[in-house]
Amino acid sequence: MNYHILLTGATGLLGRYLLRDLLLADTSVAVLVRRGRRQNAAERVEAMMLSWESMLDRELPRPHVLEGDLTKPNLGLDEDELAWVEQNCDSVLHNAASLTFISSDPDGEPWISNVTGTQNVLDVCEKTGIKDFHHVSTSYVCGLRDGDVFENELDEGQEWGNDYERSKVQAETLVRNATFLSPPTFYRPAIIVGDSQTGFTTSFHGFYATLHLTYTLKKSMNAEMGHDPSKPTRITLDGNECKNFVPVDWVSAVTTHVVTNRELHGQTYHLTPESSVSATEVKQVLDLAIGFEGSVFHGAGKPVDDPSEIEQLFYEHIRVYDSYWRDDPKFDGTNTRNAAPHLPCPTIDFDMLLMMANKAIEMDFRWKEKVPAANVGATSS
Ligand SMILES: NC(=O)c1ccc[n+]([C@@H]2O[C@H](COP(=O)([O-])OP(=O)(O)OC[C@H]3O[C@@H](n4cnc5c(N)ncnc54)[C@H](OP(=O)(O)O)[C@@H]3O)[C@@H](O)[C@H]2O)c1
Repeated sequence: MNYHILLTGATGLLGRYLLRDLLLADTSVAVLVRRGRRQNAAERVEAMMLSWESMLDRELPRPHVLEGDLTKPNLGLDEDELAWVEQNCDSVLHNAASLTFISSDPDGEPWISNVTGTQNVLDVCEKTGIKDFHHVSTSYVCGLRDGDVFENELDEGQEWGNDYERSKVQAETLVRNATFLSPPTFYRPAIIVGDSQTGFTTSFHGFYATLHLTYTLKKSMNAEMGHDPSKPTRITLDGNECKNFVPVDWVSAVTTHVVTNRELHGQTYHLTPESSVSATEVKQVLDLAIGFEGSVFHGAGKPVDDPSEIEQLFYEHIRVYDSYWRDDPKFDGTNTRNAAPHLPCPTIDFDMLLMMANKAIEMDFRWKEKVPAANVGATSS
């Protein structure tokens, strides 16, 4: 029997790479995808598959598409679909999540997709006899810890930087406490950026949010704000802070390698880089990609007195990322290095980060599948 792996979040940045890489590894895949505003799940997946085929210039097999939503009991699947899962799926790669950092409602995001949603995925697994569970978490379940962070650690009494991190800790805990599962496998990426070869990305969080904001401010400065070059924009960092960026293609390659090698299951993997990027390097990339010159490091956490209009706008819009405006801890990736010694993380140096920044600017910080719905054909295997 050729069982499928049930993948959630296939339409997201990491999910589309996981889907591509699993299919290229001859794995049968079922995807749980929600309806879009204009397209049903099957149409969304087909559009994405056609994009991949056009980028790779080759044909790909199709996944089996299940339309559903993490937030609904049984993931919104009816009895026939649950029976299909029971008969055809033997594992789950739970990758979908809400990346809402700050919650405005205790019953809303990120809790409902990340915590309730993970419980709903677990309930479906229990109901359909799936025991092999792979969970995409985040290395930032470490919250605001400093120093070395190890793969076997979760709740060390740390404080968390935002609701998203707390929701991901709760989700991991639910999976760890699900006694009906075989020992689950956890994947904890650092901050995911675009493709190491092409810079392609479909989501513009983290590094891209700072880039996008700076890009927009630079355009307004040129147009109307009358920026005074004698007053540099003050960045409330000291420049030595380090951030851990990982390219999406590498995160997907390592995850696929672990998923498809049973002897590697049951562990926790930090999908984190060997070398981090300093705030000074990020600033240099922004300076060059955007031409946003005239900013200076003002000192970590030092208040900005009498802020300029640019500074006010910058700090107002970047507030959601406040907790990442700091030095990262050092993530130990021993399990990952041992499991995938042939897949070292590409070094994100100045040139690679600049290539990614230029690609995001070229994409105008947007991604839309280009395939017209009229081209949509058969969608299930
Ligand atoms: N991005 C990072 O820097 C980063 C870092 C560490 C860990 N991670 C983890 O990596 C995983 C993938 O993240 P990503 O960056 O690829 O995120 P993304 O691009 O925002 O994709 C999120 C995916 O989850 C799906 N999803 C969200 N809520 C859902 C719901 N209620 N029902 C069904 N599907 C739902 C989305 O579907 P729609 O297309 O319908 O919205 C989308 O496919 C997540 O678990 C995230 O926590 C991400």
